[in-house]
Amino acid sequence: MKFYSNIFKATKKNILKASLLIKSGTVVAIPTETVYGLAGNALKSSAVKKIYQLKKRPKHNPLIVHFSSLEAIKQIAVVHPDCIKLAKKFSPGPITYVLPIKKNSGISPLVLNSKKQIACRIPNHKTFLSILKQSEVPIAAPSANMSNAVSTLRAVDVHKEFGSKIKMILDTNKIKIGLESTVIKFGSTIQILRPGAITKEMLEKTLRKKVSLPAKFKTIEAPGQMKKHYSPGIPVYLNQKKEKPNGALLVFGRYKLKGRHIFYLSKKSSLEEAAKNLYVLLRTAKEKGFKNISVHPIPNKGIGRAINDRLTRAAG
Ligand code: TXA
Ligand code: MG
Repeated sequence: MKFYSNIFKATKKNILKASLLIKSGTVVAIPTETVYGLAGNALKSSAVKKIYQLKKRPKHNPLIVHFSSLEAIKQIAVVHPDCIKLAKKFSPGPITYVLPIKKNSGISPLVLNSKKQIACRIPNHKTFLSILKQSEVPIAAPSANMSNAVSTLRAVDVHKEFGSKIKMILDTNKIKIGLESTVIKFGSTIQILRPGAITKEMLEKTLRKKVSLPAKFKTIEAPGQMKKHYSPGIPVYLNQKKEKPNGALLVFGRYKLKGRHIFYLSKKSSLEEAAKNLYVLLRTAKEKGFKNISVHPIPNKGIGRAINDRLTRAAG
């Protein structure tokens, strides 16, 4: 295996080291249960600035801040009653709550949206949770990829995005979900700004009220809603049954297809498995030199909605 000087196994010692680096303002890449995060101390604007610079992220696209508990979120944000219900059911987990920030929170204003709201998440990943506890600071962490590119699920992919510009990339094999968290906003109605593994149906069941899906790319409240996003860097075609010239085909379901251009999202038609394979396969197809990627139809239900959301953006 190739050696990378900034990839470290997530041992106790390295987790402590990452925690201290983050606390002191250094940016480190760490895994969550959804995708890798590019993590920095949310109390330090210098660290937050570094995250924006590394990703080449537009300044108007706010960052998710990660906390170890709902209690920690309550200290800095005004928590909506529905948020408490959802947090009891789904947090720690792949769900992010957009909430008004409190005065004198100490959080860097650079992570907020234009309405002074903060996106809060409690990640369900052992390594990330230990880092939150040991660093004792809230952690700003967008996905660890260049702005507009596909998120990363492996330490080597983080390295391919940023090279040695980041000091430390923690390596674990434990990314369970593979798609970014569901982002939701509270108001007279509950709105999903970005679909994810916690689905509309799950939210409605818990809250016993209607939850709305993103208004189709009209506003850019969460720039995950911007159209060109999640792009592998080559054309992507949706709802295809066959590959195009010089192209790869991502297959969903039990088909007997062969060839180096065939990549299975899930043979057993599992949307969860497809979600977990999607970003890795988009990267792999590009790296193998294919000039475009065609993707089988993906059922638009459950986490399938999040897959189709990302694919639509990847197709631009
Ligand atoms: O699963 C995830 O959410 C991963 C891991 C690392 O936690 N993070 C992630 O971050 O996907 P990022 O920055 O790639 O996507 C955050 C999304 C963007 O669409 C952003 O616009 C939106 O959340 N967002 C962040 N802060 C917001 C805020 N204050 N108001 C509205 N949307 C916000
Ligand atoms: Mg992202």
